Amino acid sequence: MKQRDYSPLLAQFAEAYAKRSPKSAALHERAVKLMVDGGSNSLRLLHPFSPRLTRAKGAWLQDEDGHRILDFWQGHHANILGHNPEMVTRALAEFFGEGLGLQTGFTDRWQIEVAELICQQTGAERVRFTTTGALATMNAILLARACTGRELVLKVGGGWHGGHPWGLKGVGYHGGFAGMDSAGVPASVNENIIITNYNNTEKLKDHFRQYGDQLACFIVEPVIGGGGLMPAKKEYLQAARELTRKYGALLIFDEVVSGFRFRAGSAAALYGVQPDLMTLGKAIGGGMPVAAVAGRADILRWAGKGGKVKFEGGTYAAHPASMLAGKIFMQHLIDHEATIYPQLFATGAKLREIVTKTFAEENIYVRFAGDRNRDLPGNPMHMLLFPYEEDGELNTPEEVRNPAICDLELGEKVLQLGLLVENVFTVHGLGSNSTAHVEADLEFLGAACHRFAKQVKAFL
Ligand SMILES: Cc1ncc(COP(=O)(O)O)c(C=O)c1O
Repeated sequence: MKQRDYSPLLAQFAEAYAKRSPKSAALHERAVKLMVDGGSNSLRLLHPFSPRLTRAKGAWLQDEDGHRILDFWQGHHANILGHNPEMVTRALAEFFGEGLGLQTGFTDRWQIEVAELICQQTGAERVRFTTTGALATMNAILLARACTGRELVLKVGGGWHGGHPWGLKGVGYHGGFAGMDSAGVPASVNENIIITNYNNTEKLKDHFRQYGDQLACFIVEPVIGGGGLMPAKKEYLQAARELTRKYGALLIFDEVVSGFRFRAGSAAALYGVQPDLMTLGKAIGGGMPVAAVAGRADILRWAGKGGKVKFEGGTYAAHPASMLAGKIFMQHLIDHEATIYPQLFATGAKLREIVTKTFAEENIYVRFAGDRNRDLPGNPMHMLLFPYEEDGELNTPEEVRNPAICDLELGEKVLQLGLLVENVFTVHGLGSNSTAHVEADLEFLGAACHRFAKQVKAFL
């Protein structure tokens, strides 16, 4: 592994970016005096500052300085059809126009309709809504701990399930994924989280042999987000199903990212595996805050009146406007499933081809995390990697987050700022494509990558 110093290039990108974005810069100055680091989610806060948006439509954003930016984050990967799809915005405008939509605190028909769609498309028997993926995974874990009467939670290294005590261990790579990533979590919670390895069936078996009869649950993403935007192997998830059954633990699929991203329903169905509980978020809200725990009725009963788990969705749970947006969006995905998903995958494949070819033209070897796993029909989520060697499998967080295997500074920081100067927004080494990304957008990305590759070559 060669020592590479990107600091002159980063400084050059930062200077070019600052020069052309005076309005975003001035807003950043105001923001940092009020909000920590100028915002409320560290992924949104770039160095030297983030573009402040005025508009988002389809594949494109517009910022305060008037730049049009091609976006591959798409609302934290939620916006499968691109930003602000008209079928949702129009329905919401009419809804508000009729004097409906803001929170009432009562129940209504829309939440029933959304719950019906979720059950129909995921095989779940019951649903409880909340507002964020973090609350969904936290409550799913509480349910598992309560109804098994067990303490231990098994999760994978590199898996991000949101900011709550059981989600904060084993997220970042520090020579491995064993550590607690946040201060403030009780020591007892830390001790009760066991970290296993994504896509490593043998390690999973070992962990079940060692801890199986103390495990409340195994929580895992069928397609891991933060750990690589890459799919699980079929044999891995099938082994997870068999092992959890054998040892009496619950299987929780965190489908906050993967739900409705790979088909109009759970990604679990593509693996032929039905989890006991599933968490959903992001796409199911159609751009509005909706999250849910869905699964077996006998487990979710623990959250009901007289049950022992205090799973309250919250003041804004099942918010009427969010439910309407979720219903319209999911129904559209269901009705057009046969065209939307093949299109998403085809665009994704084309994107990978263009980017790989572009970097190859400048003799820079790139790969996409999980690209050799063919267990899903395609992948519209892309973590671009700059591996030092050409023969790696690259389908575990232990490989793709390891700075000795992949040039992480180049793949994250340098690429993100370098492409932003080119009016392309990337995250996690590239991000997600939507159906709104058309051929010309991919060519725009290719041309941006080409100019980036030419500049970066001298530093490799
Ligand atoms: C797989 C997964 N689970 C849970 C969460 C947390 O969701 P939220 O940010 O809505 O709390 C995320 C967020 O990125 C996620 O990717």
